[in-house]
Amino acid sequence: RQARVAVIGSLNMDVVVQAARLPQIGETVTGDSVYFIPGGKGANQAVSAARLGASTVMVGSVGTDSFGQTLLESLEQSGVDIQPVKRTPDAPTGVASIWLSEGDNSIVVVPGANSRCLPDDVRHHQERIAESEVVVLQLEIPMETVMEAARTAKELGKIVVLNPAPATKLPQELYQWVDVLTPNRSELERLSGYPAEEGGLEQGMQTLLHKGVSCVVTTLGEQGAVVLSKEEGFRKVAGRSVHVVDTTGAGDAFNAGLACALAEGKPLFDAVDFAGCVASLAVTRLGAQNGMPSRKEVDAFYSKELEGNG
Ligand code: RIB
Ligand code: NA
Repeated sequence: RQARVAVIGSLNMDVVVQAARLPQIGETVTGDSVYFIPGGKGANQAVSAARLGASTVMVGSVGTDSFGQTLLESLEQSGVDIQPVKRTPDAPTGVASIWLSEGDNSIVVVPGANSRCLPDDVRHHQERIAESEVVVLQLEIPMETVMEAARTAKELGKIVVLNPAPATKLPQELYQWVDVLTPNRSELERLSGYPAEEGGLEQGMQTLLHKGVSCVVTTLGEQGAVVLSKEEGFRKVAGRSVHVVDTTGAGDAFNAGLACALAEGKPLFDAVDFAGCVASLAVTRLGAQNGMPSRKEVDAFYSKELEGNG
């Protein structure tokens, strides 16, 4: 069946600078290239979900400047319904300044208009949220908005996926409205207070179940992911090793893949594997949003893998 996904979150223009080496504090280095690439965790997840074939709607906020226009066009090109994205004259479109060196990145995000994505916007678009099966959230918009969205979605009986990125502590109240929480290692440490080393992961994840979520999926990059669910316990999902070009947006690809697969009715572990596959493809290309793979590409990757094993 056609999956329906709602993403409530951020939109940023990513100013990506590539350099052989990153500067120390107070130092100047010469870079190789600069790109302006649509980004923002929310928008990346929306674009990825849409490319995977989900009917996708986005709630968010951009400025009335040209970056905002470009971001909306990028979403629209991938088939995301942008009607609920607000254009506010009160703040500039969000910008992420990304320094890229040897596939790794450092990012400074200036939220701008994302900080104007308010609980009222969620209430205003409640009907659109009601039409989806899975609601995806991250933490680049105000926490009150994330909370309103999670609470609303939960009340409507939706599957709520919260990507707790960038890392920050969560209000205790929020946990009860989340079905699937998807931290990476450092986010897990931040949320649980446990060191997220080999062997210590399960314990940290367990504390998050106690706080009220139904399931925790910790992403481990090319080592895959570990899943802890109230119903099915702890399990590892294998990763894939690929040629990494740019890891920016890997988490976004993962969350979109997960949301899409859950909305299609796939069981949790299959959905996590699918998500990993989507993320693996995304990191082989430059840019967060324009590196998101299509459903065709994911399917092709899977059949190649099957051939390889058979
Ligand atoms: O997750 C990647 C995203 O985080 C980038 O696109 C950038 O906008 C930052 O917000
Ligand atoms: Na990428």
